[in-house]
Parts: sequence; C-alpha cells; structure tokens
Amino acid sequence: MTDTLQPAHGMARPTAPPTPDAAIEARSLGRSFGDLTAVDGVDLTIGAGEIYGLLGPNGAGKSTTVRMLCTLLAPTSGSARVAGHDVVTEASDVRLRIGAALQEAALDPKQSGTELLRLQGRLYGLTSTEVDERVGQLTEMIDLGDAMGRPIATYSGGMKRRLDLAAALVHNPDVLFLDEPTTGLDPVSRARVWDEVRLLNEQLGMTILLTTQYLEEADALAHRVGIIDGGALVAEGTPAELKRSVGDDLVIARLDDRLDTADAERLLADLDVTVVDAVGDELVLSTAVGAETIGPVAVALAAAGITLRDLTLRTPTLDDVFLEMTGNRLDAGHLDGEHERTGHEPEGAGR
Ligand SMILES: Nc1ncnc2c1ncn2[C@@H]1O[C@H](COP(=O)(O)OP(=O)(O)OP(=O)(O)O)[C@@H](O)[C@H]1O
Ligand SMILES: [Mg+2]
Repeated sequence: MTDTLQPAHGMARPTAPPTPDAAIEARSLGRSFGDLTAVDGVDLTIGAGEIYGLLGPNGAGKSTTVRMLCTLLAPTSGSARVAGHDVVTEASDVRLRIGAALQEAALDPKQSGTELLRLQGRLYGLTSTEVDERVGQLTEMIDLGDAMGRPIATYSGGMKRRLDLAAALVHNPDVLFLDEPTTGLDPVSRARVWDEVRLLNEQLGMTILLTTQYLEEADALAHRVGIIDGGALVAEGTPAELKRSVGDDLVIARLDDRLDTADAERLLADLDVTVVDAVGDELVLSTAVGAETIGPVAVALAAAGITLRDLTLRTPTLDDVFLEMTGNRLDAGHLDGEHERTGHEPEGAGR
C-alpha cells in the first residue's frame, strides 16, 4: 500500500538516510514556540503496516508531533518523511496519502454525517460512483445507523469521533494519524474505536500512528509504543519489551512515611531488588523473583522501623516504564472518560 520511497531530495539530512519500508520517519524533529520547546529532537521510524502508539501526559508534545507529520505545522528543526515524501518540501504528496483525525475535530454542526463524508470524497477527487461506494463502506464500518442523516450537532462525543475517523478514511490513505482518538469516550465507544483501528490495520494493512494518554490503550492497540515526555521520546519498544525493561516482577510497598530512593537502596542493599522509584509514600521495587522477595522486603522495612500499610506484587505496566524513565506516574491510565488532567497531579486533582 505504501508508495515506493524516493531518495531524499534537496534538503540536507541531518542524520541517517531514509529507511526503506518506513511509512513514517522523523529525524531530530523539533518544534519550538518562542522559548518553549514543544518537541525536542524526536527520532521515529515506523514501518508500513505498524500501529504505533505515542503515549504521554498532557503537554508532552504528542499533538505537535502529529501536526508536523501531517504537514499542518512546520518543524523548527529536523525533518520527517511520511508515506515516502518529505513533510516540508513535498507536503501535498504527503497530504494525498495520509488521513488524520485530530484532537480538535472541526465538524460543521449543521452538516449530516453522510454530507460530510460525501464532501470529503469530492474534495479528494473521487467520482460520484466512488463516493457512493466509499460512503457506504464507511457508514457500515462506523455503524452510526440513522444518525448519518441527522445534523452532526445531534451527535454524542463518541459519534463525532467515529465520524471524524470515517472522514479521515474517505480517500483510503496509506497512513492514518489519530490524535487521542478515545480521550473522553465511555468504555463502549472506546472499544468500538479500538475495533475499528484494528480492522483498518489488519484488513487494509494501514499504518496507524495514534497518540494517547491511556496506558491500556497503548498496551492493547499498539504494536510498538513510544513514550514521550517533555517533548522527547524517553523509551520505545513493544509493550512487552518496555515492561520487561522494568523487571520481571514489581513489589509495591505503601508506607506510612516517605522514604527516598537512596534510603530505600541502603535499607534493601542485601536483597535482590532494584529500587525503581520512591514516589510519595509508594516504594516501587523490581525483582526477578517477586514471590521470594516480598517477605524479606517486609522484614527489612520492619527492622528499620518503617510501617508498611500495604505490600503488593504485580507484573510491570507501561506506567511503571513511564515512572522509571521520568520519575513520575503518567497517572491518566484509568479509562474513566475524564477529559483533562494535568500529567503529574495526584489522583482526583484533575479538573
Ligand atoms: N500553537 C502553540 N503555541 C504555543 N505553545 C504551544 C502551541 N501548541 C502547543 N504548544 C505547547 O507545546 C507543548 C506541547 O503541546 P502538545 O499540544 O503537543 O501536547 P500534547 O502531548 O498533545 O498534550 P495533550 O495530551 O494535552 O493534548 C505544550 O506546552 C503546549 O502548551
Ligand atoms: Mg494533544
């Protein structure tokens, strides 16, 4: 489905030559707004047919990255190629080959779903027979029923998201960008979007870059995940690789008092554990053999006069990877449909 990659033209490449088969390739891609560096030298190589999840908290630089890759925002440093074309020097070639459902969908409330899809089809130069066929297929896929004939003003948030997804697909793009496709959706709508994303990838081989603040979403959908924080990619790999990088088992100790990382390391020096982090009253330890470690950890802490409120054993999550890489919890991982949270506030502090 992807076009043949063409040699880099004109512009000096700061680093490596283009990777054959890459559907999306960014090299030291950066964007500043005045003094603020929103995206700070991101390198990405996403293969054709991959679902790649860019996971990060509010303000991490997800939308800015996507907007540059979609040719909607000029990079202030580095370069990127999407579907074989440079996003700056060959922007119109890129646009023909990509679809994008962005965070702020600009849907005309007076238009009906069907009207929107037909208009998109015509804008992309489809014949009226092709438009009919395509609108039929997409209407079936998003399954909005009679609502397709009603004004978009009457749609729920989830319906709008799914219509926006369909609109991004009218011209059958090679590469699809979805910026937080499920933020704010209820669990049922979220599951439908996940199904649609999987279907597009499995049946059409579409390359999909999606951004998310939800650990579960990255874990469930993405073949590979890039964790972004403060504009930089801090870790990348399959969800399994990322979790393995934290350790086999995690022991989580909740304490009555704070314990800093250095103290914890000193207290547990004789045990076969690594202190991943101490955040608030939570101490996170990784170990190869959790079941055998949990008892000695309790004993060592008790011997030091530290009161344990809770001691649990579990396998790592992507949040643990995020914690290890950034020293913070991503803390937006619960799929509760909450809209806006700042990245690092304690639970319940979102507005
Ligand atoms: N047009 C702009 N002008 C100035 N600053 C901007 C602009 N767009 C983004 N920023 C800043 O760049 C940083 C990254 O923003 P971005 O929208 O890429 O984050 P995000 O990861 O998409 O966050 P969210 O999860 O909230 O959508 C933020 O600090 C934001 O305030
Ligand atoms: Mg965003």
